[in-house]
Amino acid sequence: MLIAQLTDTHIKPAGEAAYGKVDTAAFLRRAVAHLNDLRPAVAAVFVTGDLADRGLDPEYALLAEILSDLAAPVYLAAGNHDRRAGIRAAFPGHDYLTGDGDFIHYVADLGGLRAVVMDSSVSGKPYGQFCAARLDWLDRTLAQAPDQLTMVFQHHPPFETGIRHMDGQNLQEPEAYLAVLVRHPQVAHVACGHVHRASETTLQGIAMSIAPSPAHAVTLDLDPNGPPSFTMEPPLLRLFHVAPGGAVVSHLSPIGRFDGPHPFFAEDGKML
Ligand SMILES: [Fe+2]
Ligand SMILES: [Fe+2]
Repeated sequence: MLIAQLTDTHIKPAGEAAYGKVDTAAFLRRAVAHLNDLRPAVAAVFVTGDLADRGLDPEYALLAEILSDLAAPVYLAAGNHDRRAGIRAAFPGHDYLTGDGDFIHYVADLGGLRAVVMDSSVSGKPYGQFCAARLDWLDRTLAQAPDQLTMVFQHHPPFETGIRHMDGQNLQEPEAYLAVLVRHPQVAHVACGHVHRASETTLQGIAMSIAPSPAHAVTLDLDPNGPPSFTMEPPLLRLFHVAPGGAVVSHLSPIGRFDGPHPFFAEDGKML
């Protein structure tokens, strides 16, 4: 099974560029075309927050229009740039969005993989946080299926990357979150967004990653005094190959067409 993760699409109203520079809608259209060309076909696409840049209705309307071209089912999560009501209004057919009070958290059962999508957003704040209600929901939800291979998707990462201005706005109080996760060893991977870069680590034995944005990257500046900035690096998206034995294997897929594929072997079987 192949699962895709898009994140931090930061869609603006039609005709506007993010930060006056980034045509995020065009980048997302390229990502959608790239995903539709993948073989095997992806079973689902998770979009882990900062869907819209300002949480505006026209932004969500454009996002919905672009994502409607995806062949695979789409599952949305909320980030710090998002507005829950705006997401719900623009995606009326996405029944999972209406699940549990105000929070957009839910389970997507993909058959062979159970995806738990968390809502780490805190209204009006750049950082993320799981209140007691959300942690309790996670604990109960994971307890319902202890034998099913599980991935968790969310916007804010519970670990630091070394990029100081982003580390100041990641998931607050990660200890309480990790204390819940370690009670449920079926959780194979926690997939996050927010940092606009590919990053991976292991916490308490649980694999975790951050997916890059299909548009702008946060500059890889590990200088503690480095100013917040972005760089137009080659766009990427993250894929998860769920192996038959249950291993969740992560890949990065550069978005676009590149020279190749070229064969290693000639028709007579000899290496070229
Ligand atoms: Fe973002
Ligand atoms: Fe974010």
